[in-house]
Amino acid sequence: MTRKIGVIGMGHVGSTVAHYIVAEGFADELVLIDTNEKKVNADATDFEDAMANLPAHTNLTVNDYDALKDADVVISAVGNIGLQKDNKEHDRFIELPFTKEAVRSVSQKLKASGFSGVLVDITNPCDVITMMYQHFTGFPKNRVIGTGTLLDSSRMRRAVSSELGIDPRSVGGYNLGEHGNSQFTAWSTVRVLGQPITKVAAERNIDLAKLDEVARAGGYTVFHGKRYTNYGIASAAVRLANIIISDARTEIPVSNFHEEYGTYLSYPAIVGRSGIIEQLKLDLTDDEKQKLQTSADYIRTRFEDTVS
Ligand code: 2OP
Repeated sequence: MTRKIGVIGMGHVGSTVAHYIVAEGFADELVLIDTNEKKVNADATDFEDAMANLPAHTNLTVNDYDALKDADVVISAVGNIGLQKDNKEHDRFIELPFTKEAVRSVSQKLKASGFSGVLVDITNPCDVITMMYQHFTGFPKNRVIGTGTLLDSSRMRRAVSSELGIDPRSVGGYNLGEHGNSQFTAWSTVRVLGQPITKVAAERNIDLAKLDEVARAGGYTVFHGKRYTNYGIASAAVRLANIIISDARTEIPVSNFHEEYGTYLSYPAIVGRSGIIEQLKLDLTDDEKQKLQTSADYIRTRFEDTVS
């Protein structure tokens, strides 16, 4: 079966996503889309120059929405680097004036293409934009997913692993809620060294609140150094695309629609070829439930303000 992925938006994030896919040979067909014709064509030629030295071949198509009709996954990486550069307030909503318009236009074209795969949204503010994509395309909610706190969970895993001197892959657990400032680490879900982290932290005098802050601020730590982030988010998005294409049915924290909160928010789900296959039920503490409600209310209100 042919594996086909589309990437919309070839800025720092989209081109890193596309490069990762090409370098690893994760797709047979890759469709690259950007409003800047010169840039997207240059990226395509650059990838083709790489191909003679890569382990796999990828067929590239440039700026053709019709080619997305039979794509398995389309990844939205539309953004505005100019607005990101001014991001002194540490708030991903700074991009909303640009991305809310972009999303209307991309949704229309995506719908017209007859695309029936899974839409993965990276574009910020991630949860609100993911909900807008679903709203404007009318695609089934299980087929529209945001990368959400998959990235923040990996930042938390980095923080915990560096504190304990272990591999981040040996840290399990989730950041929940908004891919933004109202997110939080649900410490009740985090396990390390075969134990709940709360137990290990008490024994070793580890300040979990400090690690929570490292995860929440992780994007801005990178941002301060180079004015954008790309590798962490690209790895998260491409991992998610691979889970979908291979119908892996993996438990993963992503932004998905929750009826009980009336909004998209990050919460672990089983993901496979048809997108969200099953939503999990975590045994959160009362404090975590409260934080999730606060985050959900924030996302829902911002969505309603934006589309009204
Ligand atoms: C990140 O967290 C900025 O949302 C982007 O890396």
